[in-house]
Amino acid sequence: MPPRKIIIDTDPGQDDAVAILLALASPEDIDVLALTCVAGNVPLDLTSKNARIVCELAGRPDLPVYAGCDCPLGRPLVTAEHVHGKTGLDGPDLPDPTMELCKEHAVDYIIDTLRAAPAKTITLCPLGPLTNIATAFQRAPDIVEKVQEIVLMGGGYFEGGNITPTAEFNIYVDPQAADIVFKSGIPIVVMPLDVTHKALVTKPRNDAFRALATPAGIAVAQMTDFFERFDKEKYGSAGAPLHDPCVTAYLINPDLFTGRHINVEIETQSELTMGMTVADWWRVTDRAPNATFMGDIDADGFFALLTDRLARL
Ligand code: BDR
Ligand code: CA
Repeated sequence: MPPRKIIIDTDPGQDDAVAILLALASPEDIDVLALTCVAGNVPLDLTSKNARIVCELAGRPDLPVYAGCDCPLGRPLVTAEHVHGKTGLDGPDLPDPTMELCKEHAVDYIIDTLRAAPAKTITLCPLGPLTNIATAFQRAPDIVEKVQEIVLMGGGYFEGGNITPTAEFNIYVDPQAADIVFKSGIPIVVMPLDVTHKALVTKPRNDAFRALATPAGIAVAQMTDFFERFDKEKYGSAGAPLHDPCVTAYLINPDLFTGRHINVEIETQSELTMGMTVADWWRVTDRAPNATFMGDIDADGFFALLTDRLARL
């Protein structure tokens, strides 16, 4: 099978960075066409700078990086410096990027690229709030049929939320955008907190990244060192959850994950539960399934894959 053509829509973010590195280390499985950046973990100027830092870390200064929407569709931007640090990529000491940001707006890039593609040939991989993707669908509904699949990190059901008691960060930041995407009719694979909270960077796993003794391996170890302090304090967990790399790992080996094809609706009205992914896991309604909502991961297999692929960079 030829590698899958993807666009990574991202708000780096240490875990976004690891997801991007995994994709760029896997050219036989994944053909990354571009990174499109969105405001999320930190404001847009920082996410679009961090994306270029990660490309250079991976030895890919040629990869196109576009800046997109700087705020959600209908709400003020909420950021997560309390998790990711002031830069969004705190931990390693990485040089400022020398590669330029592409001039075109990310939404225009997404629209133009999909319009030029045959039907169902490009996979979208959103790792942040869904603002860029929803804006593209709103402005150019004709591109929807060009998307092969959307594989995204967002939401949570049994785990509840991580930014409010019921909402996960990416969906909470732009629930209107998430609602548009989940109603698009495109096949969607969701990596919710139920899965990503099982992808924990324990000390031995962190040591394995560091032992690669490459700039990428050491940077990933330093990123997850930084990132873990927050979740350790909050959940008492054994290490940092690698949320976003679950998306790119799925593209390489979907068998690492199990889930259910169910109906998932997004709460956009109630302030109390804003951004909740109302997942009909038990199929108690007759609402039509619109997403494969993952529930479990082979964590050892995931970390073996990740370490193995990072070693190539
Ligand atoms: C998601 O929110 C961000 O903080 C992470 O990068 C991830 O995409 C986890 O809730
Ligand atoms: Ca992210």
